Parts: sequence; structure tokens; C-alpha cells
Amino acid sequence: MRKHVNLFLNGTHLQIDGDEAFLTLSEFLRIRRGLTGTKIVCSEGDCGSCTVLCGQADESGKAFEYVSIDSCIRFVFQLDGCHIVTVEGLSGSQAAGVKPAQDLTPVQQAMVDCHGSQCGFCTPGFVMSMTGILESTDDPNEDQWRSGLTGNLCRCTGYTSIIAAAQQANQTTPKRMNETYPPEKMLGAAQAGETETIEITDGDQIVFCPTTIKEATDFLAKHPDATIVAGATDMGVRFNKGHLKTKTWLDLNRIDELASFKISGDAIEAGARATWADFEDATESVVPEFFNIVSVFGSPQIRHVGTIGGNLINASPIADSIPFLAVCETELTLTGNAGSRTVNINDFYTDYKKFDLRPGELLTHLRVPLPDPAAMLRLYKVSRRHDMDISTFTAAILIATEGHKIKTASIAYGAVGPVVLRLPKTETFLVGRPFDEATMVAAGDVAVGEITPLSDVRGGKDFRLQLAKNVLLKFLAQASPESTGEVMA
Ligand SMILES: Cc1cc2nc3c(=O)[nH]c(=O)nc-3n(C[C@H](O)[C@H](O)[C@H](O)COP(=O)(O)OP(=O)(O)OC[C@H]3O[C@@H](n4cnc5c(N)ncnc54)[C@H](O)[C@@H]3O)c2cc1C
Ligand code: FES
Ligand code: FES
Repeated sequence: MRKHVNLFLNGTHLQIDGDEAFLTLSEFLRIRRGLTGTKIVCSEGDCGSCTVLCGQADESGKAFEYVSIDSCIRFVFQLDGCHIVTVEGLSGSQAAGVKPAQDLTPVQQAMVDCHGSQCGFCTPGFVMSMTGILESTDDPNEDQWRSGLTGNLCRCTGYTSIIAAAQQANQTTPKRMNETYPPEKMLGAAQAGETETIEITDGDQIVFCPTTIKEATDFLAKHPDATIVAGATDMGVRFNKGHLKTKTWLDLNRIDELASFKISGDAIEAGARATWADFEDATESVVPEFFNIVSVFGSPQIRHVGTIGGNLINASPIADSIPFLAVCETELTLTGNAGSRTVNINDFYTDYKKFDLRPGELLTHLRVPLPDPAAMLRLYKVSRRHDMDISTFTAAILIATEGHKIKTASIAYGAVGPVVLRLPKTETFLVGRPFDEATMVAAGDVAVGEITPLSDVRGGKDFRLQLAKNVLLKFLAQASPESTGEVMA
């Protein structure tokens, strides 16, 4: 059993144990390592000023793959084998904790040349995200820059000059991180310990980082109250807000079995730790409707680490994945140390934040049967902003017709009750009726009888009731041959 995390920071190998393992990465960098270029503003994954690059061994095992992450909602104990690059280490000319580098990278120089920085508080985060985009995309176009930077906020410079800097950076050939930091030595040290289980204690705190599901469920059997953490995009926020007083942690990040992802002929089969970036990469051609939802899920920083399992167990009635998974009749595999069972997602949620996961169980896998290609699927997310916003209303509508009549109908709405709701009365009402405006208007009246929306800061009850009706008409309009296929309500 290993008692420390192997972390590589700006090229330097650190072995971290004790209280430092339980810190958020941003606090560790700033307070324990003096790397204050990483800023903390919101502490909840919204502003991106704490962005750093996180490298993990790629599929070949011979290089790191670097992505941007929000360091304020990542715990140090989650980072075994990772190479973290901060703004101080971007040009590679300094070791962790030593004097900042003087050399500017092409991205940093472009921010200077294009006046992309005013007060400077957001600047290191932008520079790290821009560098992350250049790590994964050759010659990004303006749209790719804009969507790649949705996780970074600037309150004073304005985005025009930042985007201009991004485009200037495009005209150079920036060094990739694997050139700046040759990976062989770091990967060798990381891989030597990758099958070792890690357990770190600090006073009465303990974190267990297993490498198999069996080890994880054995630990849960002994510690049924342990706090499970996957991507930490929900848990990190709760921790920073002081809502989490846990002493016992179970981290799933080293269990490769949970990160599986496969699209077979008729289903998506994913481990619970599959990230939103995995779904974004795989669904564009297979289920473009779900891709549209996933591509505006949080920000790149959130999608790089946030998992589908975390979204399902967080159990929010506005979780963006659930309406689609509900109309597809997704099967969830729940595993404890006595074995596994399968539950249909439509039977899983029982009340607000209540669900059928027994003490000692983990969500391990899910199987999402893909909709019949002859049926029409539309997914809707209504929010005040296009990017980085919490849903006011969500819907998934899947309807198959035969001739002019509706053959099957599956409908799920979010943000209109304590859980994402299937609408069985509306579905039954629709089947056998003509697929026309009169039917969809009447179905809207049935639908509002099946939901119990509340008023909150994102929208009033009446607004949500109206959306519940209108979305059915929008679906009808989109089904007509003249439709442009535009999907956001
Ligand atoms: C800035 C920001 C933007 C966001 N945007 C969106 C958005 O657009 N749409 C949306 O729906 N959500 C959004 N979220 C919420 C969050 O990112 C998602 O819910 C994400 O999928 C959670 O996954 P995670 O791995 O980070 O979960 P974690 O935070 O690690 O865990 C969440 C919960 O799941 C439990 N858990 C995790 N994995 C398992 C498992 N395998 N078995 C049992 N329990 C488990 C944890 O104990 C915890 O209770 C956003 C969050 C932030 C901070
Ligand atoms: S401090 Fe705002 S995202 Fe981390
Ligand atoms: S430069 Fe001031 S917040 Fe962006």
C-alpha cells in the first residue's frame, strides 16, 4: 500500500502525503508551493482563473495528453501520475517553487501584443486554456477559440482583444508540452506505481485510491459513509462552500475499469467514470442531438474531468444528461461487494436527491440503447446563456410515426419536479393520434397536468408550464420537412 501521491509539477517529481494530499490543487499551488500565478476567484469552477494544465499518460503510454482543468475543484489526492503545468512553468525554464520564468511563450507574447490583459487577474487562466486548446487542436478557427474559452471569464479587458491574441498565437508554431517537458522520465516513475493502491491519512482524515472496483467496494463495505469522488466538479464546489465535512474519502480516479467507453451497433456502453469529453468526442456523428447538449455542458475544464456517473448520482432534476438517458431506457449497473444488479434509470430516482443506490454500492456502468434511427429525437436545454449556464428547463422527446399517426412516444422533462420526470399520460395520449398541431396542443394540456414546477431565480412556475407546452409544438415544427433542424429552445 503506497502512502503518497506521485505528482509532477512543472517537471519536478513530488511525493505528497499528509495534509497536503487533502488540499485543493489551487491551494496547494498557491499556499504550499508559492505558485501564485494560479488565481482563485470563484472557487466553484465558473471563472477559470485557476486553470492549469493536467497531463496524463495517453493511450500509447509514451506521452502525456494535456488538458485544461479548474484547479480550485480538484483535490491533490486525485492526481497520482499526473503532470501539472502552471503558468510559471509554461516555458519550461523553471523548476516548481523557484523564480518565475522570464521567457514568454507565443501565447503569452500574443496577449501582450494584442493588449489581452488589463488588471491581469484572469490572464494566467486564459493563457493556460489557450495553451490547452493548442495542445489538442491544430490551427483552431475563431469558433474553436471562442468555444474553447467558455470556461474563462474576464471582467475588464473584454474578449475581442483576447480572441485577437488567440488568433495571433495561431500564426506561430507553439511548442507542445511533450517537447517542453520530455515525458519519458516522469512517465516511467508514474507507471512504476500505477497498480499500487494508495491510502493516505492525516489525523482522522483518510483517503483511499484503489485501482479495482473490488478494492473500492470492499472499502465501501467497511466504510459505508465514505464520500465517493470522481471528477469532483460537484464535490469540489460543495467542499469549497463548506458543505462537506467528510473525514473518509474514496477516490475513483485510478480505476480504469470505470473509465471504459464503447459505442457498439445499438448502444453506448460506458463506465461511470467516462467523462463529458469522452461523450463529446464520440457522439457527434452517432447521436448529434446528445452531442449538442454535451458540447455546452459546463466548460472544457468541466468536461475534461466531470463524469457521467457523478452527474447521475448528483441527482439534480436539472442534470443535463438525464432526459436523454431516460427516453433511451438506460440501464444502470450498481455494484457492491456481494455483486451487481441492473436498474432502469426510470426506476432509479425516487424523490429529490433520493435514488436506489444501496449503502456499499457504486454506480459502475451504464448501457444506453440508441434510439431507433427511424424515430425522431430532439433534446432541449433552455437557459439564459448559451454557454456555461444551469438549465431552466430541459426536455427529451422521442417520437416514431407510422403514416401520419404516432406509433410510439417517449418524453422526459427536467426542472419541473423533484426529479427528471417521464410523462406517461402524455405518452399514452399521443400514441395512435395524428401527428399534427391539434394533437400536440392537446398533449401540452396533458403534460402540464403531469408536472409540478416551482419558481426560482432561473424562471417562474408559469414560464416553465408554458415551456412544457411549447416544446411539443417546437418538436412538431422541427419534424416538418422545411425545418432547419435548429434545436435550442
Ligand atoms: C462550473 C460548472 C458547470 C457545470 N455545468 C453543468 C451542466 O452544464 N450540466 C449539468 O448537468 N451539470 C453541470 N455541472 C455539474 C457537474 O459538473 C456534473 O454533475 C458532473 O457530471 C459531475 O461529475 P463528477 O465526476 O465531477 O462528480 P463528483 O463531483 O465527483 O461527484 C458527484 C456525486 O456523485 C457521487 N459519485 C460520483 N461517481 C460515483 C459513482 N461511480 N458511484 C456512486 N457515486 C458516485 C459523488 O459521491 C457525489 O455525490 C457543472 C458544474 C460546475 C462546477
Ligand atoms: S477560481 Fe473560478 S474556476 Fe477556479
Ligand atoms: S484582465 Fe481584468 S479580469 Fe480580465
